[in-house]
Amino acid sequence: MLTTMIERSLRIFLKIAVKLFSPRRLRKWQHRFFLVKQVLKEVLYMNKALIIYFSNTGNTRKVALAIKKGLEKGGMEVTVMKVSEAKDVELYDYDLVCFGSPVIHSLPPPPVFKYIKMNEDKYRDDGEVHLCSPKILNKNALVFCTYSGPHCGINEALPVGKYIRQFFEHLGFDVKGEWYEVGEFHRWKTGSIRGRLGDIRGRPNADDLALVELKTTQLVRSL
Ligand SMILES: Cc1cc2nc3c(=O)[nH]c(=O)nc-3n(C[C@H](O)[C@H](O)[C@H](O)COP(=O)(O)O)c2cc1C
Repeated sequence: MLTTMIERSLRIFLKIAVKLFSPRRLRKWQHRFFLVKQVLKEVLYMNKALIIYFSNTGNTRKVALAIKKGLEKGGMEVTVMKVSEAKDVELYDYDLVCFGSPVIHSLPPPPVFKYIKMNEDKYRDDGEVHLCSPKILNKNALVFCTYSGPHCGINEALPVGKYIRQFFEHLGFDVKGEWYEVGEFHRWKTGSIRGRLGDIRGRPNADDLALVELKTTQLVRSL
């Protein structure tokens, strides 16, 4: 109650103060604020990245390892974990968390669902989930999904990527990308040859993985 009153009064005071500024002075203050933010970002930067993934038939694992290479090329210290090993990991200990999942029957597989539900509950209980999801400095995320899209192409994968994305946004992470990588449907040959995406046998192939690695290094530079 008291904090709400203080917050409201501060807001009113700041609004009045800002109204007294000329647009030119306001711009100067915005610039100063930006500089302070940049300095804080550098001071708080830990250079640590985490990759969590689930993979049944190896495609998502290949992408996870290509991301690892890209992160290391960008100079980051990287930890890679399967979802089953990440139960007690503290996501806020990293500057960048990359999370990968395949698409199973148009949804994330049960271990991914379980991981996200468990952590959403944990961080909500810890008071880390706030209305409007304000972003926290140096808490970045990357979502990657592998899929075969035999029936509807990428539309089969988008709900999975969006679901994982909103989890990180709830926690205040700045989601830098949602990457959708094509992967062979290992247990369904026809689906890998005659589906919406054509012949996808062998994907993600060396070219796909090289591109993932390159995109990752570029992403690190943009952090
Ligand atoms: C049981 C099963 C169901 C799948 N369902 C879908 C699906 O609904 N849509 C899709 O695009 N791909 C589907 N796939 C293909 C996988 O998403 C794709 O092969 C993915 O790259 C597998 O990743 P992984 O090798 O890391 O497990 C399915 C694969 C399996 C084995």
